[in-house]
Amino acid sequence: MTQSNPTIGCLYGIGVGPGDPELITLKALKALQKAPVICVPQAANRRESYALSIVKDYVKPEQEILRAPFPTDSEEGAAQVWREASKLVTERLRRGQDVAFLTEGDPMLFSTFSYVLAGVREMCPEAPIVIIPGVSSVMAAAASSGEPLVTHGQRLAILPAAYGLDDLAEATSNFDTVVLMKVSPTMVRALANLEELGLTGQSTYVRRVTTDREKVIKDITQITDEDLDYFSLLIVKGKGKKQAANQD
Ligand SMILES: C[S@@+](CC[C@H](N)C(=O)[O-])C[C@H]1O[C@@H](n2cnc3c(N)ncnc32)[C@H](O)[C@@H]1O
Repeated sequence: MTQSNPTIGCLYGIGVGPGDPELITLKALKALQKAPVICVPQAANRRESYALSIVKDYVKPEQEILRAPFPTDSEEGAAQVWREASKLVTERLRRGQDVAFLTEGDPMLFSTFSYVLAGVREMCPEAPIVIIPGVSSVMAAAASSGEPLVTHGQRLAILPAAYGLDDLAEATSNFDTVVLMKVSPTMVRALANLEELGLTGQSTYVRRVTTDREKVIKDITQITDEDLDYFSLLIVKGKGKKQAANQD
C-alpha cells in the first residue's frame, strides 16, 4: 500500500509489550495498524523478530514488513548496520509513508529503536517522530513475581549485562532492588557472584514473562540449562544502604 501523500511520513517508535499480545496499548495498536510500513529488527542468525511475533495477528496483509538487519558485535560493524537500517526507514519516510518501528517491551529501554531514532534524526531531521511507550519486561516481571519492585523511598537500578562481583556488590549495596537484564549469557557467573554476596535467597529469575513459556523461579539454585533464555531477567533485592535524598 503506497501513500500518495507527498509530505514526509512519521516514524512511530512502538513498544509492543513483553510477549502477551493483549499487553500492547490501544494507542500503539492504532498506530501499528495505520502505518503502511512496519519495521522490525531482524538478527541474521535468528528466526522471526520477537516483536513481530507478538503482534502478528494485528498486522494486515497489505502492510509492508521492513526487516532491519540487527547489528554485529563489532562496534564499527554495528554502526554501519544501523546506518543501513536508518536509511531504509528514511527512504520510506521520504516517500510520505509512515513507518511503525516495533520493539518488544518499551522502545526507550535497551531498545534497538534508539539507534534508528538517532539515525533518522540525523538523516531526515524534518520527519515527525512519535514514541509510544510499552509495558517493559521489567514491569511485567515484577507483576508475575508478585513482589513490588520498589516501594516508597526505595531505589531501583536496572543493569544491562556483565555481572562481575564488584558490579553486583556495588549495585546491591546502593539500591534496594537491582534488575539484571540480558542475563542469560553470563548466568553462571551472575549466580556464583550472587551466592558469594549472600543474595541467592533474595533473587527471582523470570523467563519469557507473559507468554505461555513464562517461568518464575524464586529459588534460583533450581535454575537449569533448560530454563536459560535470552528473554529472561533476574530481580535481586539488594541491601539499599543509601536512602534516597528526597523521599516521595
Ligand atoms: C534488548 S533488551 C529489550 C528490553 C525491552 N525494551 C523492555 O522494555 O523490556 C532485551 C532484554 O530484555 C529482557 N526481556 C525482554 N523480554 C522479556 C520477557 N518476555 N521476559 C523476560 N525478560 C525479557 C531480557 O533481559 C532481554 O535480554
